[in-house]
Amino acid sequence: MLELTPEEKNNLPRHVALIMDGNGRWARSRKMPRLFGHRNGVENVRAVVNAAKEVGVPYITLYAFSTENQNRPKDEKSGLMKLLEEFLKKEFRSMMEDGIRLRAIGDLSGLPGFARKIVEDTIDETRDNDRWNLTLALNYGSRQEVLQAISKYGQDNPASDHIPTWEEFSPYLETSDLPDPDLIIRTSGEFRLSNFLLLQAAYAEIFVSPLHWPDFGRDAFIQALSNYAQRERRFGKTSEQIQQPAQPLASS
Ligand code: FPP
Repeated sequence: MLELTPEEKNNLPRHVALIMDGNGRWARSRKMPRLFGHRNGVENVRAVVNAAKEVGVPYITLYAFSTENQNRPKDEKSGLMKLLEEFLKKEFRSMMEDGIRLRAIGDLSGLPGFARKIVEDTIDETRDNDRWNLTLALNYGSRQEVLQAISKYGQDNPASDHIPTWEEFSPYLETSDLPDPDLIIRTSGEFRLSNFLLLQAAYAEIFVSPLHWPDFGRDAFIQALSNYAQRERRFGKTSEQIQQPAQPLASS
């Protein structure tokens, strides 16, 4: 079992967002239907959430269903929604025991009623949990989120002709009570963000794994964290500025 070194443990991301890609390919390579891949993908959600708790990553966000996924065949969409319901039902007890708070981003009104209900109920019931944070992106698209935020900002500031600062604007995004993701992991070897957290990802590190999502288990997640821990995040500064303590400004 892969373990992080003490230095790596001191340099973990606070928020990891995952693009869970490759369920379909994983199933096809086994000559099985796509939903078999999604079912195994859900099993892997458990493995990764447990790994996050094991090492202490407090925020996990999962791209479970994009606005573009609405174009998938009806059977696949309804199968995914049933898997979501099953997952939330099965996990509810351990979410309460472990202190996991569920959130959702995306337009829940576009989900079937039964799925929307269990998502909203679980959000309500886990509201006071404050140890771990699991956010599901459901019927989510980053561009739609940004356009909606612009519209809400405009309603609240009708007379303003000043360009808002990021601090003024970001509370209008759906992620307003989450830190920005430090690390975005995408499985299945594609180097794309696919309309996921586009603004929030401004300084995120990106890790692409060749593994399909159902195979991206605990050790693969730990390996991604280890890779992240060895990177230098510069936020636009030079390497020297990052490594040296800030110099006091010359006194005038
Ligand atoms: C991408 O694989 C995966 C999805 C579109 C759905 C991900 C959803 C789950 C794992 C289940 C629901 C989530 C939770 C949290 C219970 P793909 O179908 O695009 O794979 P392909 O690109 O190989 O076809």
